[in-house]
Amino acid sequence: MTAVATETREAGTIKPRRMDFDMSQLQTKYFFRGNPILSTLMYALSASFPSGERFFIDTVRHYQKDIDDPVLSAQIRGFIGQEAHHSRIHEDFNTQAETLGVAMERIEKRFKKRIETVKRNLDPGRQLAITAALEHITATLAQWTLENPEAGLNGENHSPLREMLAWHAMEEIEHKSVAFDVYRKAVNKEKERIVVAKIVFRTFWIQMAIAQVILLWRDRKIPSVSHIREAWHFMWGKGGFRRWSAPEFKRYLKPGFHPDDINQRHLIEQWQESYPEVAALQVG
Ligand SMILES: [Fe+2]
Ligand SMILES: [Fe+2]
Repeated sequence: MTAVATETREAGTIKPRRMDFDMSQLQTKYFFRGNPILSTLMYALSASFPSGERFFIDTVRHYQKDIDDPVLSAQIRGFIGQEAHHSRIHEDFNTQAETLGVAMERIEKRFKKRIETVKRNLDPGRQLAITAALEHITATLAQWTLENPEAGLNGENHSPLREMLAWHAMEEIEHKSVAFDVYRKAVNKEKERIVVAKIVFRTFWIQMAIAQVILLWRDRKIPSVSHIREAWHFMWGKGGFRRWSAPEFKRYLKPGFHPDDINQRHLIEQWQESYPEVAALQVG
């Protein structure tokens, strides 16, 4: 008998929320603190979501028929609904960014190509292990974003990304165990899960950095020393995301780890009170 999620199981089903964001609010290319490094990091993340989240759906869907647990089956449906909606919303954001002259299509194509290579060369079990590892990255990013609104959400300048991230982060935490539980139920190779995650955790940030360089190069934009300093602090300074998250990634690499070992439930429960203006954008 393999263990499955407890935190999310007790919380009931995972419900996709339909949201109405105003993408036309994005009018400034380097919107995030006016910093081209941080802004292109946001663009790179957003560009990775449409094809990335479709990949997540495909890898989980492959095993959907093998899951006989009705709770997990319902969670899979919720997971697919949420990721499909995230993917569409980020597509709209990326289209708006393209109109400002950000080379989003160029980097979206790059992410898509890499995913196609993975799909061609790896078996479905390893592909699902990749999804589970990436879901740990998104849940970790989500926790940091919601717990550090000053750094992660409020630093931007009149763009819909703040609202999008607050909503996306919360739903990522809500469904963080689904791909992991499907992997445990249908594949369950602990060694493989850990080896795949080690590779994913390393390559993820390299891919983001490459996308940022492409965006900056296409715009002929050279960041200033103060931009570099600010970006370094954002990532590696005290409380910075990369510094804070390092032990969180290590936890995933321990045999027997389960995403629900990290209690993030309060971030979902407090979401509507913490971000009433974002909750107000829910239309279904
Ligand atoms: Fe998502
Ligand atoms: Fe996700």
